[in-house]
Amino acid sequence: KPIYVLNGPNLNLLGVREPHIYGTTTLEDVRGLCEARAAVFGRQVVFRQSNHEGQLIDWVQEAREGACALVINPAGYGHTSIALLDALKALSIPIVECHLSNPAAREEFRRHTFVSLAATGLVSGFGARSYELAIEAAAQAAKASA
Ligand code: DQA
Repeated sequence: KPIYVLNGPNLNLLGVREPHIYGTTTLEDVRGLCEARAAVFGRQVVFRQSNHEGQLIDWVQEAREGACALVINPAGYGHTSIALLDALKALSIPIVECHLSNPAAREEFRRHTFVSLAATGLVSGFGARSYELAIEAAAQAAKASA
């Protein structure tokens, strides 16, 4: 089964959006990094982005059957969405929360993410490299729980 990599709102603008915080790597670049990293572990990646909470929830539900592990950058919804948390809680596969920046070192309102309550673990603060580390963690956790 593939590793699902889900990206929340505004991440389609990666590379042009606040590059001093999020870097100049685009989301397509990130997709390539994830695919390459997953291939090392013999895994494929299903890589998606949506600005819509319900769409992300539908994909999380799809991952229940379709994925060996889930990497999710919930972006702003991580800080607000109990519905997304509830969807994640219904998963029995490893969940790696992933952020480009380190939200804990930014504004107060970013210090809490609901997603963390359901996540197996968290990688943040390493820019696009956070995703590679998250893929690595997800692949290994999937193997351990297989
Ligand atoms: C983010 C951090 C969030 O606080 C923010 O809302 C984002 C991106 C990150 O990857 O650093 O949109 O998830």
